[in-house]
Amino acid sequence: MSKRAVTEYPINDAMANRWSPRSFDPTAVLTSADLGPAFEAARWAPSANNLQPWQFIVGYRGDETFAKIVNDLSGFNAGWAPDASALVVTVANTHTASGRDNAYARYDLGQSVAHFTIQATADGHMTHQMGGFDIDALTIALGVTEPWEIVSLIAVGALGDPNKLPEDRRDAETGPRERKPLTEVVR
Ligand SMILES: Cc1cc2nc3c(=O)[nH]c(=O)nc-3n(C[C@H](O)[C@H](O)[C@H](O)COP(=O)(O)O)c2cc1C
Repeated sequence: MSKRAVTEYPINDAMANRWSPRSFDPTAVLTSADLGPAFEAARWAPSANNLQPWQFIVGYRGDETFAKIVNDLSGFNAGWAPDASALVVTVANTHTASGRDNAYARYDLGQSVAHFTIQATADGHMTHQMGGFDIDALTIALGVTEPWEIVSLIAVGALGDPNKLPEDRRDAETGPRERKPLTEVVR
């Protein structure tokens, strides 16, 4: 299933083809080598003062980290994300080397995640970012401590059968993707 973005101007193929499925193939397996290029792309994202204030904690389906992440998903996300092949926890370093607040930490992490998702798409993987999880419980479960802070999750895997989703989710899965018009975004 393609949900390629309808654009006024041509854009890079991976950007046009990236979309966020909820039907992942529960039999598909990913290894750290499979995700190597996507993490390499994330590593090479720009950041304020080149502080690179990001880390990624990766669980592969069947391992202990994956189980901890699944355990703290919101009810809605728990309905589909466990079928992903990998779940990635994105973590920002909120401090500079001198201990001051880094105002750009989450901005830079987001940019790094964008690089990750585009490279993953180019490599044939599907990604779906999530904010719906118990951040306090996951912080404890994974032993994340200050100045590091969990920000989001990314489900990564292969596309599954949308017909297995409940009806309300199936409609969103197969329906068109929408965006504000360019004229509303660029002034
Ligand atoms: C930071 C962030 C948090 C998100 N949280 C969730 C979530 O908890 N559950 C979910 O199903 N989708 C979540 N999404 C996915 C968005 O709903 C999705 O990216 C948006 O609707 C655009 O669709 P597209 O990615 O297919 O273009 C999140 C996306 C981002 C970037």
